Amino acid sequence: MTTLTVKLGERSYPIFIQPSLLSQGNKLADYIKTDKAVLVTNDLVDPLYSQTIIASLPDIKIDKIVIADGEQHKNLASFEHVITQLLNMSAARDTTLIALGGGVIGDLTGFVAASFQRGMPFIQIPTTLLSQVDSSVGGKTAVNHPLGKNMIGAFYQPKAVFIDTKTLQTLPAKEFSAGMAEVIKYGIIYDKAFFEWLEQNTAQLIAQDVDALQYAIARCCEIKAEIVAIDERESGLRALLNLGHTFGHAIEAEQGYGNWLHGEAVAAGMVLAAKAGQMKGWMQTEEVQRVIALIEAFALPITPPTDMGYDTFMQHMVHDKKVQAGKLNYIIPKAIGEAIVTPELDETLLKNLLN
Ligand SMILES: NC(=O)c1ccc[n+]([C@@H]2O[C@H](COP(=O)([O-])OP(=O)(O)OC[C@H]3O[C@@H](n4cnc5c(N)ncnc54)[C@H](O)[C@@H]3O)[C@@H](O)[C@H]2O)c1
Repeated sequence: MTTLTVKLGERSYPIFIQPSLLSQGNKLADYIKTDKAVLVTNDLVDPLYSQTIIASLPDIKIDKIVIADGEQHKNLASFEHVITQLLNMSAARDTTLIALGGGVIGDLTGFVAASFQRGMPFIQIPTTLLSQVDSSVGGKTAVNHPLGKNMIGAFYQPKAVFIDTKTLQTLPAKEFSAGMAEVIKYGIIYDKAFFEWLEQNTAQLIAQDVDALQYAIARCCEIKAEIVAIDERESGLRALLNLGHTFGHAIEAEQGYGNWLHGEAVAAGMVLAAKAGQMKGWMQTEEVQRVIALIEAFALPITPPTDMGYDTFMQHMVHDKKVQAGKLNYIIPKAIGEAIVTPELDETLLKNLLN
């Protein structure tokens, strides 16, 4: 078992990473302070893992709320639905919410936890690669608005994160690849040695080798925990985690949420960011090629949809949360292992990049 800590003073919390962790309820019970908890999941994950968790917590009464699967349900209607169910179940401020599923369930449940009676404890049990390496750690919670992704949300930290790497065995290959986009992201923005390790361990990761997965997930969580401890509210360093996301969110919004997976959109977005870095004279051509090759090795897209050009991208990007003082900020790699936040992409460069 790997145990990491997100260090945020009295809001610090552990991340536990281990295959088959879900069947070992003892540790989970330590983080549920009353004899009642509510499990929030979706109709795809529910039959796969809910029962294992419920059976591992014999002394705790677990109610369950099941949402329909899909990014299109990460919205205010689902938020209201969960709140109504909690009220019907007579949930109280000290009832613990357990988010079981991918980033959609984690983000929605976290936002409910932040809001219900002004805040209740919650635990993240992420079951997709993306949520295990990224969304379950760091306390960003949100739902989407028709005009923009993650437009309604809060920073609200969980009490603990339980990562059972074995849950990835049931994940469709396409979803696994999408998660790899976020894994690669950490190498590009922060850790050249990890990027090189990924280049050398591509086959092992695709085969879901237990040790390779454990190492990759732990390294990503370690990097995320380090960044969040320094900059919880994204006033600086944390913004680097959005590499590929400004372009990616535009792709997701234009194509309709769920048609391009989040990780796929981020993958194409990271290639655009790397090419922008090259156009600025920062990234070496050879490094851009390595970024593209690694992304492609995990069967991820390396170009945006053909029907999207400068105008379409800009229409969506003006709603981006990284707009500050009227200026859009971009996360651009300077080299593998190092990235910066910059408003300095002029119109000519963007037109060359996106058209
Ligand atoms: N909060 C953050 O910091 C943060 C960071 C990155 C992404 N996100 C958000 O995360 C979301 C994407 O997360 P995601 O990629 O996990 O998507 P998701 O939650 O939609 O999960 C992807 C699919 O896999 C299914 N699934 C989940 N676990 C499974 C398992 N073990 N076996 C089989 N199927 C399984 C889900 O039901 C779904 O169909 C987006 O909404 C994105 O905005 C949030």
